[in-house]
Amino acid sequence: MAFERRAGALWAEQVAIEAIIADVGTPLFIYSASLIREQARAVRTAFEPLGAEVRYAVKANSNLSVLGLLLAEGCGMDVVSGGELLRARRAGCAGADICFAGVSKSETELRSALGLDAEGHEPVGLINIESASEFQLLDRIAREAGVRASALLRVNPDVDAKTHRFTTTGLTDSKFGIDPSEALELFRTADLFPGVELLGLHAHIGSPIHEPAQYAAAAGRLGELASCVRSIGRDVRILNLGGGFAHGYGTSAAEPVSAYADAVRTAIGDEIERGTRILIEPGRVITAGGGLLVVGVMHVKDNVHRSFALCDAGMNALARPALYEAHHRVEPVRNRTGAERLADVAGPLCESSDFLARERPLPPIEAGDAIAVFDAGAYGMSMASNYNEHPKPAEVLVDGDRWGVVRERQSFDDLIRHDRPPVWRSHEEKS
Ligand code: LLP
Repeated sequence: MAFERRAGALWAEQVAIEAIIADVGTPLFIYSASLIREQARAVRTAFEPLGAEVRYAVKANSNLSVLGLLLAEGCGMDVVSGGELLRARRAGCAGADICFAGVSKSETELRSALGLDAEGHEPVGLINIESASEFQLLDRIAREAGVRASALLRVNPDVDAKTHRFTTTGLTDSKFGIDPSEALELFRTADLFPGVELLGLHAHIGSPIHEPAQYAAAAGRLGELASCVRSIGRDVRILNLGGGFAHGYGTSAAEPVSAYADAVRTAIGDEIERGTRILIEPGRVITAGGGLLVVGVMHVKDNVHRSFALCDAGMNALARPALYEAHHRVEPVRNRTGAERLADVAGPLCESSDFLARERPLPPIEAGDAIAVFDAGAYGMSMASNYNEHPKPAEVLVDGDRWGVVRERQSFDDLIRHDRPPVWRSHEEKS
């Protein structure tokens, strides 16, 4: 067990969480190296029969030490910005194992992906193109530099992920991807873009996708489009099926990753047979369960209708409850004895959306206690903000009976470092 209770207090692997708090303070994220490795292995094993390659979605948790663990487990990286690309490279990921997605890439980002920046990095293995405009830009950059970009077209398969509307990405009215008919047209006219080698197709319909059938339906649409592309004399050698495997947050169990793999095998068995390279981009399912957010209780108060545990971090550290009304299990790090009562676990920010949990039965809680928020290893720190000028939490990695800080808590100086008084310049009208 990555996180378990021993004699009333929570432990992370073989380390007492109270010992970490005593040293590092709160708020902090704690990651279990063993659980993250185990999840990466489970994904790889489930998709091994399909010959699929894992490109971990760095957006879920981009800590360099976490990326290092996943590289050691044989994952490549899926990145969506110049910043994530930097992290993947810094962690030691080979260019060839990086997939660069992202709906609105800048010229600077594309140049960096092609290894054309001053640092002289290796080019990334694949760029997922999300619009005809990006296709033209990438072609121009590559031709000017005398290189050829390897790319996939991200298509919009119009399959409902049946998830929160903010994280649904594969319906026709979404900003992501290209309509299949337009994608076919781009393959047809590919000779006009000699700077780009189109190697295949990509889709990602949302996150989390609770029903493997929906994930497989999108894969099926990619398979159908691949046949159309081949029928006009173009080749499709790679299908990137995206991420989105669900994680059980405690309210309901998630389907195992093997259920998604089985459904995909049924949907695109012919593609697997013919040796099409299959890529997947899981994020959440690998890191969510391996992370806790630990917050300190500053005050406890009873209002007329509700009780609150007011903590030193809320939506600034874990935005998911505020953004999606997501459910995360919460427990005191050390349980006090006494009757449970309903309470909200709320943060310090000046917004009523700033909660981590609502109306939960909790044992007695007092100021000075600490509360663990479970399943915060994905889309926790990577979505944290400095709203109300709170420094971002520290991050700690636990591995067996060892632990270490893997990102320092931000300081107040970090918060004001980039502010400066204006160096006034006069506005000049261009004639
Ligand atoms: N590939 C692409 C192109 C994506 O956009 C995403 C997630 C993934 C892969 C990884 O999906 P995963 O396996 O982690 O489900 N902030 C939201 C989740 C947003 C996901 C965005 N894209 C949340 O906290 O639930």
